[in-house]
Amino acid sequence: MPLATLEGNNVSAWFGDHKVLDRVSLTMPAGVITALIGPSGCGKSTFLRILNRMHELVPSASMAGEVLLDGVDIYEPGRKLTDARKQIGMVFQKPNPFPAMSIYDNVVAGLQLTGKTVSRDVKDDLVETSLKRAGLWKEVKDRLRAPGGGLSGGQQQRLCIARSLAVMPRVLLMDEPCSALDPTSTRVIEETMLELVKDVTIVIVTHNMQQAQRVSQQCAFFLASQGQPGGIVEYGNTEAMFSQPIDPRTNDYVNGRFG
Ligand SMILES: Nc1ncnc2c1ncn2[C@@H]1O[C@H](COP(=O)(O)OP(=O)(O)O)[C@@H](O)[C@H]1O
Ligand SMILES: [Mg+2]
Repeated sequence: MPLATLEGNNVSAWFGDHKVLDRVSLTMPAGVITALIGPSGCGKSTFLRILNRMHELVPSASMAGEVLLDGVDIYEPGRKLTDARKQIGMVFQKPNPFPAMSIYDNVVAGLQLTGKTVSRDVKDDLVETSLKRAGLWKEVKDRLRAPGGGLSGGQQQRLCIARSLAVMPRVLLMDEPCSALDPTSTRVIEETMLELVKDVTIVIVTHNMQQAQRVSQQCAFFLASQGQPGGIVEYGNTEAMFSQPIDPRTNDYVNGRFG
């Protein structure tokens, strides 16, 4: 499967009549890690959730605009929500494995999305491959039947990454995946991301400016002025955005002067 490009075009979002995003356009190129940065409440998570059709699960939520996966709108009438979910996986801030379920069963838990029955051998292979890709195999290969909840926080997060990967997504969305983890576990996840981006397009929300610089090649700075919906102030090459931002607000943010 070739690497996928994801593109948001004029994406706006509301909760009830509260508009939280205004016409956000961003191309997240194939095979690149894109970082979304910006202060709390400016709509980064909402944008991410629109990218894999999770936003629409909130009863009062609505949106406008389009999201193209290799040029095809995931919101096109007739396209199923599960199609988007299969191709575009998500990892959350707080690791959320099924705690009582075994490590093995956690990895294959997402397969029901694909609606296919899979033989035991194929499952065994998929579990091994997914855990290897998530950088967890060596640590758990001798206890695949132990509960997922018994792993450390960093291991649980890699288990969640493995669970996402088992569905073979083309894009992986990560919403502050390391904010609940210690620095060592954080670095392990970052190394995993840098490995994964060879086959999966990655979008990460992060509050950690060092992390954005370590892992991403492209960066978008989101901001919501007082009482206004959020939008992108500036985006582009990560190194350039941190060393020579164009907008003074970007400069203040990346240098820790607010947010
Ligand atoms: N489920 C929800 N219901 C109502 N408002 C929400 C909900 N989720 C987020 N919001 C509001 O949407 C805005 C953007 O939030 P969010 O996307 O979570 O921002 P960020 O991830 O940048 O911190 C905020 O004003 C927040 O209060
Ligand atoms: Mg958020």
